[in-house]
Amino acid sequence: MRIAVLASGRGSNLQALLDDLAPDTAPGRVVLVLSNRADAGALTRARQAGVRAAALADGAGDPLTLLETLRSAEAELVVLAGYLKRVPDAVVAAYRGRMLNIHPALLPAFGGPGMYGHRVHEAVLASGARVSGASVHLVDEEYDHGTILAQWPVPVRPGDTADTLAARILAIEHRLLPAVVRAVCRRILAGAPVEPLASAADAFVLANMPERLEAALVNA
Ligand code: GRF
Repeated sequence: MRIAVLASGRGSNLQALLDDLAPDTAPGRVVLVLSNRADAGALTRARQAGVRAAALADGAGDPLTLLETLRSAEAELVVLAGYLKRVPDAVVAAYRGRMLNIHPALLPAFGGPGMYGHRVHEAVLASGARVSGASVHLVDEEYDHGTILAQWPVPVRPGDTADTLAARILAIEHRLLPAVVRAVCRRILAGAPVEPLASAADAFVLANMPERLEAALVNA
């Protein structure tokens, strides 16, 4: 599967994907990285890995430019990894069921317009929730709204700041995203529908039982 990644920032989730999909035996590989920011660390990481990387000149507002760029790379799956621009509806429609996003909270809570970066973790802390986590979902026309494919809970600890909570969740994101991308690639290659990757019980496991989640995703 030929994968395009859209990222606006440092690109640590992109790096996790590049590392995980490096072996020839992986069911997909990153062939294109696009950013709405020319100074995004994600573009540097892509170039270092020998992957085509480009900043979208118009800040990604023009759906035709984005769609043509994705199609010229023959991208079959699109992963949003910290991409802060709204993806135009025409692009969402062209890649329906084949565009994923990772969000650093347990959707549908703490998602939606304006819920990105530290704002997410600050809202979680302000709410008093004792659990947060990471979610990977299909992208539709609404922010953070499409079908949830997999989630991984992460505890909120006493004394957490947005920084400490973000770091704990980010480490989990780096494991969840590649596992979901692999599972989605395998499903598409097998002609199977892309849907939640396991039963709710399997996808929602304790963060200290990672092998169970990974087994559930591998068997998805
Ligand atoms: C991650 O927390 C991701 O969930 C969110 O934006 C952040 C991107 O981080 N959508 P990075 O650029 O992958 O390091």
